[in-house]
Amino acid sequence: MVLLSFLISIPLFATQDDNSFITKYEYGAMLYENPRGIGCNKCHGNGKKEIILAKYRDRKGALKYIKVPPIIKISFEDFKSKLKSDKTESLIMPTYFLTDDELDSLYYYIQKLK
Ligand code: HEC
Repeated sequence: MVLLSFLISIPLFATQDDNSFITKYEYGAMLYENPRGIGCNKCHGNGKKEIILAKYRDRKGALKYIKVPPIIKISFEDFKSKLKSDKTESLIMPTYFLTDDELDSLYYYIQKLK
């Protein structure tokens, strides 16, 4: 019981500053790979360049590509609106349900991707 209450009292994800339990960067890194859904890295890689996820031929036989855009240069406003947008706006990218704090850390991390 003592152990249990100790575990519960740990602030799970403190993100205020770099002295917290885990840093904003670490939190962002964790979210990038495991954002309660398929990891951003699975499609966006290191976020720096356009990635061709798949090639296919349309009904007329023309070669088509499913491309994943780079995401390191996007503004925070555009980033937020994309991540909060409904599935209907994108046929490929999943819908995520991330909080503003999570989006903040995620964006912070993506800016630092190498
Ligand atoms: C299944 C593949 C896939 C996953 C996983 C994925 N994305 Fe995307 N993402 C895309 C594709 C494809 C586009 C471009 C077309 C569109 O908007 O759907 C895109 C677009 C974006 C854009 C807009 C870029 C622009 O210039 O408009 C941002 C920002 C973005 N993704 C961030 C993320 C983040 C952050 C995550 C993880 C939480 C993530 N994506 C997960 C495939 C993916």
